[in-house]
Amino acid sequence: MPNHGPRTHTNGDLRPEHIGESVTLKGWVDTHRNLGGLLFIDLRDRYGLTQVVFSPDADRTAFDAATSLRAESVISVTGTVRERESKNPDMPTGEIEVWADAMELLNPAEPLPFAVTVKEEKQQNTSADLRLRYRYLDLRRPALQHNLILRSKLYQSVRRYFDQHDFVEVETPVLMKSTPEGARDYLVPSRVHPGQFYALPQSPQTYKQILMIAGLDRYFQIVKCFRDEDLRADRQPEFTQIDVEMSFPTEETIYAMMEGMVAQVWKDLKGTEIETPFPRMPYAEAMRRYGSDKPDLRFGLELHDLSETFKGSGFRLFENAGAVVGLRVPGEGDRGRGAMDRLDKDVVRKKIGAGGLIYFRLPSDGSETSSSVKSEVLPSEFVDRAVEAVGAETGDLVLVLAGDAPRVFEQAGTLRLHMASELDLIPKGADGPWKFLWVTDFPLLDYNEEDGRFHAMHHPFTSPHAEDMDKLASDPGAVRARAYDLVLNGSELGGGSIRIHRRDIQSQMFRALGIDEEEAQERFGFLLDAFRYGAPPHGGIAFGLDRIVMHLTGAASLRDVIAFPKTQNATELMSRTPDLVDDHQLAELHIQTVLPESEEAEVTNQSS
Ligand code: AMO
Repeated sequence: MPNHGPRTHTNGDLRPEHIGESVTLKGWVDTHRNLGGLLFIDLRDRYGLTQVVFSPDADRTAFDAATSLRAESVISVTGTVRERESKNPDMPTGEIEVWADAMELLNPAEPLPFAVTVKEEKQQNTSADLRLRYRYLDLRRPALQHNLILRSKLYQSVRRYFDQHDFVEVETPVLMKSTPEGARDYLVPSRVHPGQFYALPQSPQTYKQILMIAGLDRYFQIVKCFRDEDLRADRQPEFTQIDVEMSFPTEETIYAMMEGMVAQVWKDLKGTEIETPFPRMPYAEAMRRYGSDKPDLRFGLELHDLSETFKGSGFRLFENAGAVVGLRVPGEGDRGRGAMDRLDKDVVRKKIGAGGLIYFRLPSDGSETSSSVKSEVLPSEFVDRAVEAVGAETGDLVLVLAGDAPRVFEQAGTLRLHMASELDLIPKGADGPWKFLWVTDFPLLDYNEEDGRFHAMHHPFTSPHAEDMDKLASDPGAVRARAYDLVLNGSELGGGSIRIHRRDIQSQMFRALGIDEEEAQERFGFLLDAFRYGAPPHGGIAFGLDRIVMHLTGAASLRDVIAFPKTQNATELMSRTPDLVDDHQLAELHIQTVLPESEEAEVTNQSS
């Protein structure tokens, strides 16, 4: 029996300079080919693939054992490095191969639920749920390993940056009092305080403010946050923030510090120089020009407010609308009627929920502009004015939506994104361009029709602009906040604000939110009290770390950058979480469950 001993190299190490050496490799059997009496195995580990050759002449027992190996079995191979006859320039180890003298099967694999292979295209047919159930198999894919390795390097880069700038990393409690960030809390029952609950942090917002009051001056933390909210491709119930707070800052202090962090991260992880400072745009302008508070600036297709342009046209739809918004789509003026009808029905009405689409086509042969509205209803001089207002030229298409503001701007913003994607204007992958943007001066409050009151657009600790303070009671919707988001390529990377640091202003804010004195004291009394004893002006921001990894890797979903993600309905399929607990545990926690009827049947079935 050969002595396999420890591995001498990984499967990514061997190069022509190793030719002639005796080596021991360990890893997973990736692929397996029997050619002309020789058996070729690609041996895989995190570092790469190495081709191993088994010849019946070298060691018959090893050859026979290797022939029956199943994919993903773990083996140890000892052999000699030789130059390959047919080299593979796509593989770092493609110039050599290892001729096996001996093989040890360390652990055989059973037949697999799906093929684990380096060839991404072969993965396409496996259902996402099956892969999540066998996450350890899916995580063997080099693409996912690459994402996790990059993520790990991101932690180091971020920590280095903040350490260089004198920030203190502080761990804040996971079992805490509820912090409002606009989602439902995940609650943890207390055994020793019957009927009482901890909340998992939606963010460490209140603690980081308290750390400023405590005099730490500069804080950061890479921290797990938990939000029970509707999931999307860029949202998980459990995600990671890079959380930051500073004392005595202005917005400029924070922008500069964070631009420095982003530039360092992109340099460390992509080798790319990011130009700073980043451009800024007030929220109102972003909504007017892009119909979004997170505009994607990688392409144009800007919106134009045409409300004034159509005044006096006599066209009732436009005259009665709160706003009319136009969008010039270059080079699309020859679209046929059928294509326009589909855009109207399937996209504008169904997907976007707008009332309908009006359009003007400027054919590429220079012939007359055609309007989707008869000239008796909308006189052509108004069409011409609109064409001019959006800057359309021969060969262009002009799309127009009318409706209530601000909703119609948002709808036009969605139409803008749809057109960009249809026209393939949105680059995919992880090579940029990187269009960063600070969106500033968000409204402080947002009126919620459902419960008939104002909500904090960022969170209730955000400072209003001093010059808008007098409107807090009289016209709350018009108050601007000292709040900002960092947007990258149409996605919100982070958000923050300059905080309220005075008790009287915080109380006014709670009043505007319909939170009375008693409730405010009950929920946030610790913070209000802390404001009494020397609270410095402070402000900060938090970034979605998972989202940053998504951009850096070009991943299409947060699932591909989180080791053990949750599904759309917040379950972790591998360990089957959440799960039932036994009655004894519930009794200890003083908890009785009252299930909706449908769930009750399901639980009974599961446990029987
Ligand atoms: P906010 O709620 O804007 O601010 O969150 C900051 C950033 O966290 C990321 N993020 C998420 N990522 C993945 N899944 C989610 N469910 C999710 N929710 C948020 C986003 C977002 O920009 N305490 C404040 C920050 C502050 O004021 O300093 C806060 O949490 O990238």
